Amino acid sequence: MMKETSLLHKPMSDVLIDHPYVEDFLTSFGLVVKPGTDSLQHYLDNLDPDNLEDLGVNAKQLRQSLDDFLEGMLAISDPMDEVKALTIIGGHDKSGKAENLELTLKPGEVICIVGPTGSGKSRLLADIEWVAQGDTPTRRKILINGQVPDSKWRFSTEYKLVAQLSQNMNFVMDLSAEEFIRMHAESRLVTNPEEKVAQILKQANELAGETFAPDTPVTSLSGGQSRALMIADMAILSKSPIALIDEIENAGIDRKKALDLLVQEEKIILMATHDPILALMGDRRLVIKNGGIDKIIESSEAERKNLVSLEKLDNKLLALRNRIRTGDTLENIEGV
Ligand SMILES: Nc1ncnc2c1ncn2[C@@H]1O[C@H](COP(=O)(O)OP(=O)(O)O)[C@@H](O)[C@H]1O
Ligand SMILES: [Mg+2]
Repeated sequence: MMKETSLLHKPMSDVLIDHPYVEDFLTSFGLVVKPGTDSLQHYLDNLDPDNLEDLGVNAKQLRQSLDDFLEGMLAISDPMDEVKALTIIGGHDKSGKAENLELTLKPGEVICIVGPTGSGKSRLLADIEWVAQGDTPTRRKILINGQVPDSKWRFSTEYKLVAQLSQNMNFVMDLSAEEFIRMHAESRLVTNPEEKVAQILKQANELAGETFAPDTPVTSLSGGQSRALMIADMAILSKSPIALIDEIENAGIDRKKALDLLVQEEKIILMATHDPILALMGDRRLVIKNGGIDKIIESSEAERKNLVSLEKLDNKLLALRNRIRTGDTLENIEGV
């Protein structure tokens, strides 16, 4: 279910050894399969259309059903891939004081990480990303489904447990937004890449304050636009069951929509934030102090009630920001 795989770009010989059912699939159509150094993609691209027609299938149908088949096979091939729980076993803070906690998080939960700058929020995210086993400065341990995870989680680029929304996106590629997303979609073996690409571009435009065209070069996107693109990409394309987000508040995007979008995908979401609205949208907040998890606060009903008025406040500020942006003065803010 969650293997992001570049299977298509592997040499046929490797594909047939690592995923022998691919051969069964192809031969069931009457195709001849030979191991070799050319990639599976190359194999598919070079099938003779006339031969396919004789076999009663066209290239597009074949690709579609291979994608569906692989998605199904990859989902059942390893039950460990289903992440039902992420457990953080406490280590110690910067002065060596034990955290004394064992905290289990479930898919669909949003956990906010709050604390002063330098307190250790990013460190906690990094422990999770690295699936720490007492081998980081905090000595925390991370369990998946109650167990020390298979080492493939830590070292494989193919089985990505954690998707991290990085803070800086320095695009160096000479690609348009659409090409960039298409490249992602294709490398992830989704069944309907074009549909996903369109969906991501649409979502990104809804998240970003200013819209952008699909053919905008990624290097010309504003900070907010590229951030929006990465969030939409993460929500729609990433199959990683755990999403880590480090401080999206300054990104100039619709943070609430961004979070809603990610939550829909049944991921475990951990988000470092200073933003009261984002913090209240979380189910729980981990309060970090001096490098340790000092407190766990469940978001209460009373807090959630305040969310409504906080959002009103926020919208007022947003309106003012837009007025500044469009060259208006703020002499009269009565009606805001
Ligand atoms: N428990 C800890 N033990 C030792 N060093 C820690 C611990 N927690 C955090 N640090 C270190 O403190 C520094 C600041 O942490 P960081 O996570 O960047 O803070 P924040 O993201 O909250 O601003 C980093 O160098 C980090 O590795
Ligand atoms: Mg940080």
